[in-house]
Amino acid sequence: MTTEPTAAELVAAGLERREARWLLEEFGADPARLAAAVARRQQGEPLQYIVGHWPFRGLDLDLDSRVLIPRPETEELVGVALEVLAACPVTAPTLLDLGCGSGAIGLALLSELAARGIRATLIAVDVSPGALAVARRNARKHALTSVSFLEGSWYEALDASLAGRIDLIVANPPYVGAAQYLDLDPVIAHEPRGALVAADARGVPGLADLVSVVEGAPHWLAAGGALVVEHGDGHREALRRVAYGAGLRDLVDHDDLAGKPRILVAHRP
Ligand SMILES: C[S@@+](CC[C@H](N)C(=O)[O-])C[C@H]1O[C@@H](n2cnc3c(N)ncnc32)[C@H](O)[C@@H]1O
Repeated sequence: MTTEPTAAELVAAGLERREARWLLEEFGADPARLAAAVARRQQGEPLQYIVGHWPFRGLDLDLDSRVLIPRPETEELVGVALEVLAACPVTAPTLLDLGCGSGAIGLALLSELAARGIRATLIAVDVSPGALAVARRNARKHALTSVSFLEGSWYEALDASLAGRIDLIVANPPYVGAAQYLDLDPVIAHEPRGALVAADARGVPGLADLVSVVEGAPHWLAAGGALVVEHGDGHREALRRVAYGAGLRDLVDHDDLAGKPRILVAHRP
């Protein structure tokens, strides 16, 4: 008879205690799957992909290596977006999630707005068909139906009739510069490079996708509508200039919980 390994044995095999507990809880009843999961973790694969799902605000999101693992600072972005929407008089807002990945931002917004009695409509865009497949699965998992998924680069997939009709654009585009990417924790290499790395723009590493998202926003936003975008530590000043130059106003900056510049809110007058 084989006995289930204990957390202490998994820690002795090189796992952190928290990870050991998580894997035991997930796969403890199936020794073969547990052994495979431990081997994957020992080879450096992120726990979230091995477990296959992870909490993001109120949602349990399915995840695999086709999507970025949603980050805690992106949970903060959802909180900021909800505050922005609360100050907006629209009763049934149209939301656009650019670079939706697993669907984390847009689906969390739909879900939390529904809990407040607000029926929003979400358009979720990604250039990656694999990411869209994961996002669709997450929408089905949480019975979030007022969402359409579009494949394409930033605003290119949108129907022209949506111009001037979006109440809120949310985005967490790639913003890591190519050189900075090489210095990151190797565990990052398990995530899609296209979800993380952006070209340089205006002499600023990793700014190019942020520029595309911000410069395109005024055309699609309704008057009074807002863009809420996550960015890297070194992007705040350059991005404020881009937003202002594009005609966006009422710019508000937010730091993340670690005190790093992270989120820009900008409005279409
Ligand atoms: C940093 S990830 C964010 C994923 C998700 N929104 C989140 O916060 O967890 C960036 C996402 O943008 C997508 N992406 C990259 N380039 C894009 C483009 N040109 N147009 C649309 N989406 C793009 C990637 O496939 C990836 O899913």
